[in-house]
Amino acid sequence: RQTFTKVVIIGTGYVGLTTGVCLAYLGNQVACVDSNAAVIRQLRQGEVPVAEPGIAALMQQNPANLYFTTALAEVLNGSDIVIIAVGTPAKPNGATDMSYLEAVAREIGAHLTDGKKQLIVNKSTVPVGSARRVKTIIDYMLLERGIDCEYSVAANPEFLQEGAAVFNTLYPDRIVVGAEDEAAVGLLHQLYSPVLNQTFTPPAHLPRPRNYQLPAFITTNPASAELIKYASNAFLATKISFINEIAGLAEKVGADIKEVALGVGLDTRVGRRYLEAGIGWGGSCFGKDLKSIINDAGQYGYSMNVLQAALEANTRQRYVVIEKLQQELKVIRGSIIGILGLAFKPGTADLRDAPSVDIIAKLLELGARVKVYDPLAMPAFQEQHGELEVEYCQDVLTLSKNCDALILVTEWSEFSAVPWETAGAGMRRRVFIDGRNLFDARTLQIHGFAYHGIGRS
Ligand code: UDX
Repeated sequence: RQTFTKVVIIGTGYVGLTTGVCLAYLGNQVACVDSNAAVIRQLRQGEVPVAEPGIAALMQQNPANLYFTTALAEVLNGSDIVIIAVGTPAKPNGATDMSYLEAVAREIGAHLTDGKKQLIVNKSTVPVGSARRVKTIIDYMLLERGIDCEYSVAANPEFLQEGAAVFNTLYPDRIVVGAEDEAAVGLLHQLYSPVLNQTFTPPAHLPRPRNYQLPAFITTNPASAELIKYASNAFLATKISFINEIAGLAEKVGADIKEVALGVGLDTRVGRRYLEAGIGWGGSCFGKDLKSIINDAGQYGYSMNVLQAALEANTRQRYVVIEKLQQELKVIRGSIIGILGLAFKPGTADLRDAPSVDIIAKLLELGARVKVYDPLAMPAFQEQHGELEVEYCQDVLTLSKNCDALILVTEWSEFSAVPWETAGAGMRRRVFIDGRNLFDARTLQIHGFAYHGIGRS
């Protein structure tokens, strides 16, 4: 029996590339395929085109196990497992754009030969039924070509967080496999066995966490696996909307959401994580996946009332900081507002569905002048949201100069080290709206700021 698996990964975005690089690190022979020639050229030179920490270091460890190509046909037929990890963006109506996935299925169908039995695994986040859709497309192509070939399609969703994708791949909570046949389950179990049993040597930059428990291996049918992915993201997003709604009430009744969240989260049935109140979630997944599941349900004539409410609560939450600003300044027109942080979360320049964009657009509409500072995301903001006329600042002290108020949108850790006395001295008025509850009120109040957090009266 061979000790490694020959894996082909289609798509070198942050999911595909992380998976490929980790599987190579674990000793498999991995070919990463992407239709973008520039990206493949970059990868061949050892450059990582996605901003995911830890990938570059891992790529250097086992370079002989990694191969990059634009030609799927070249690597498809010799492989044991083909993993599809292409983008499934949202269409304007919230439905999932399956065109990349379908194109890949057609390409597989066009090149598969009647050699050894193959396993095709979908890792892209897709509506329930997509594994079947992929199979139907490939079947159709094979029929057209007159090829009789044994293969199966399995669903194997990922739960990677941007910025922690390598960590999440090596130390997951669970691995989910949705397959119709035992052989597929066996092959994937073998592929993931170093992770399932933690028999690999952890990379120096990513040690195994203390108290880490071996991941569960969950096998089910493809539809359940596909739904697990959506339900997981929908639950996390709902958990955040839930705590944000409680935060709004906490302000009215004189409670402190941080303490409430702790008291609730310590019930092991609830859990402490994803109970941080603030301006709501952003990013490329939560909003897209919620809209997608709601849309899919609609096709069955089924309404997702809880998820719909979670989505609406999140939209409203973005403007809570502006309401607080209005309470302090009364009139926003003519004021100068400094925005601390643009990225949807710290550690990234990603602006997809970032609350900062909505907040800034609203402030400009209300007649404010807006200054911004973000350690990573300013070039991206300028490029993607050039229509929003803001003043870019190189640090927090420049940002705060002449401002009437500051709004903290992204909880970058460097904001904790700002000398707020000095920053406040340059301001016209000292108002601080902490959209992420990064500070205790005292920290700002001792420097003469009027401080408002979220859910803390
Ligand atoms: C998320 C999921 O966590 C991951 O499992 C899935 O595969 C992809 O989507 P990601 O988009 O990288 O990952 O973001 P995450 O770190 O989960 O944060 C999402 C948003 O929620 C951020 O805007 C964050 O600020 C916000 N958030 C998170 C809160 O507002 N409160 C919390 O308690 C936690």
